[in-house]
Formats: sequence, C-alpha cells, structure tokens
Amino acid sequence: MASFHFRCADCGAEYGEDPARLVCPRCAARQERGGPVRGGLEVVLDRLPSSWPNATADSREFLTAFLPLSDPRFLPPYPVGNTPLMPVPALRDRLGLRHLWLKDDTRNPSGSTKDRASLLVVAKAREYGIETVATASTGNAATALAAVGAAAGVRAVVFVPAAAPKAKLIQLLSYGATVFRVDGSYDDAFELCLDACAKFGWYNRNTGLNPFTVEGKKTAALEIAAAFGPERADVVLVPTGDGVILSGVAKGFADLTATGLVSGAPRLIAVQPEGSAAIARAIHERADSVTPVPGAHSIADSLTVETPRNAIRCLRDIRTSGGSAVTVSDRQIVDAIPRLARTTGVFAEPAGAAVLAGLESALEQGLVERGERIVLLVTGTGLKDVGSAATAVVVPEPIEPSLEVVADRLERTA
Ligand SMILES: Cc1ncc(COP(=O)(O)O)c(C=O)c1O
Ligand SMILES: [Zn+2]
Repeated sequence: MASFHFRCADCGAEYGEDPARLVCPRCAARQERGGPVRGGLEVVLDRLPSSWPNATADSREFLTAFLPLSDPRFLPPYPVGNTPLMPVPALRDRLGLRHLWLKDDTRNPSGSTKDRASLLVVAKAREYGIETVATASTGNAATALAAVGAAAGVRAVVFVPAAAPKAKLIQLLSYGATVFRVDGSYDDAFELCLDACAKFGWYNRNTGLNPFTVEGKKTAALEIAAAFGPERADVVLVPTGDGVILSGVAKGFADLTATGLVSGAPRLIAVQPEGSAAIARAIHERADSVTPVPGAHSIADSLTVETPRNAIRCLRDIRTSGGSAVTVSDRQIVDAIPRLARTTGVFAEPAGAAVLAGLESALEQGLVERGERIVLLVTGTGLKDVGSAATAVVVPEPIEPSLEVVADRLERTA
C-alpha cells in the first residue's frame, strides 16, 4: 500500500490526507456553482513499485501498490477490474488494422468502469470509518457505488436524473441504495448531492470532486500496461463525459512512467457525442476551460453532461498525452452497437460503443495511424440500455414452429 499526499491540480499547493477536504480550500473560493471543479486534489504517491511482478506474483498485489490506501484489507472483497484486454481479429480485419485491442470493462461486476472508482472510494470510507457514501450520477457511478456498498456493508445514497435508463434504476434499487430521482439534469443532481453531503455529513463520491475517483479508474491503465509489458500502447480511445475516466487512465500511465518501468505513455483520444461535446470543443478551440452545453443531449446518457466537472484536468491530460478528441453523432453511436458486438462479442451501452465510432472518425481524420497499437476502452454493458440497442436491430416476427418455415426464411434472407 502506498503512502501519499495531495497536490492541487490548479495551484500546486500540497496537503496531507483529511477525509473532510476533497478540494484545495484556496482554489475552492473560485468555485462557481455548476462549474468545473476548481482545486481538484491529485494523489501523489510517495513511493512506487520498482519492478514488474514476476510470473508467480499476484498481479493484484502489484496494482494495489499504486493505490492510496493504508491497508489492503479496506478493499471490499468484490471482483472489480482485472478485465480482459482482447485482441479482436474480426474487427481488425474489418478496419484494416493490425494492432487493435479492446479492454472489456463491461465485465466489471455492476457492468461498467465506474466500479473501479467506487471500489476505492468505498475502501477509503471504510478506512475513515464512514458509514454513508453519496453520489450524483448519470446512472453507472450510482449503480457502481450501490453495488460495492452492498458488498462492503456501506450505505449508498444516490442522485440520478429522472430520465436515467430503467435498467440502471432497477439495478440501483435492487442493490438497496437510497435513490433520489431528480427532476432535472445530471448537473442538477450533482449540485443537489453536494448540498446534501454538506447538510447530512455524508462522504461525497461525486466524480471529479472526490480525488479517489480518478485514482480508482487508473487501474484500467495499469492493467493495459501490465498486459502490454515492456512494449506499450500508442493510443487509447476513451468515452468521455465529465472526463474522469480519461484522467484516471492518464494518471495510471503517469504513475507507471514515474516508476521508470515503462517509457512514455499513449496518446489519449476522448470520444464525445455531438450533443454533449464540451471537452472536444475546447480541445478543437485550444481553450483552457470548457463552455457549458445547456440542454446537453445524447443517446449515450452516460456521456451527457452540460458542464464536465473534471474539464480542467481532462483537457490538461489529453494535451499532455499528445492526444485529441473526436465527436460522434447519435446515429453513429447506435450503429456502432451491433457492429462492435458482431466483430468482438462485446455488447456495449451507447457510451461504450461510441469508442468504435470514435476510432473510425479518428482514422478518417488521420489522428490515428493504421500501424499503431490501439486500445478501445469499452466502459459499459449493453444490458443496461437495451432500448437504445434495439433501435439498431430488427426484431423478427414470431414464426410457426415448422421446419419448412425456417427453410423458407433462410432462402429468402440468403
Ligand atoms: C459507461 C460509461 N462510459 C463512459 C463514461 C464517461 O466517464 P466520465 O464522466 O468520467 O468521462 C461514463 C460515465 O458515466 C459511463 O458510465
Ligand atoms: Zn489550489
């Protein structure tokens, strides 16, 4: 386990650990209500592993050495992460790419990358002796908190937009979370959660605000790097809403680079829907911060935010990596769901499938070279939003249970 301290991402001030301090108090004075998080705290590990685990070592032990926890026993006994990095031959053939992999984070226990952040935040809550953790969420972060909380015996209170897909809502309720459906946007839910945590003394997991959300998600990058070994990925495509997954991936590669075990980190390409593209727009306009998108909308509900809370760090991390951002239309996202499923066996929700549409766009724009080693981070399972997937397939009419009808249908569709 790693000892650590915090550094303010805005002013560089350093702080020790204090459960009541989620952001830099100096910079928090500049926080606008509803704006990107000011004074976000970044974890600086005081000591890093100096060798890769050998073949017999438990690679989880290697990963946990990068986590800011005083003791591994605080990690809930819940199988988060360690997801496969799959070579995807059929998709490689289809796209004419030789070096393409898919990091299948749909396999996390609650079905999304968000489990990684929730595992660490709940571990920290246990370390601090906190009984209730709250979060605002488009759906998956809340579900992840509810799932990990259930596994660890920690109470989850969640604030989701009333329009969150039904499967996510039912999953949340089944895990036993206290659920507030907010008649408003995700951004409204974010603000309400901030106020509720201040009033009721709950520990706030809000993404981009709680520093351990980035730290938890960095395990995706550590796993990718461990799978590649001394060689490394050139590009990772990341579906982006608030920008915390992207910053988590960046932090994982940054921590690894700091060990000296790998040289350099991949370029990170953010993929955003056209209707919710504040970060992509800022990248294209070379702006330091984002312009909010009032009424942001997309079929990729998980990527729909008016003001990306982690915008400042996410923009920095994309630029530091030498990466970029692409936008994709809702039609491209929906069409990518069956294309991804048919060429990889991975059924993703719109946010997850968006990376395939994003890769196609990045190839067209020359942001990715065909010979590069490319990783698609697929962040959420399609089972959470079959309604969106249904718009890209045709459900057949029922047939009589007769072999002739089967033969006839086969002939007509041949
Ligand atoms: C499946 C999925 N993919 C991607 C994202 C985007 O992550 P971030 O908001 O950290 O950019 C989310 C966020 O809810 C998500 O649930
Ligand atoms: Zn500061």
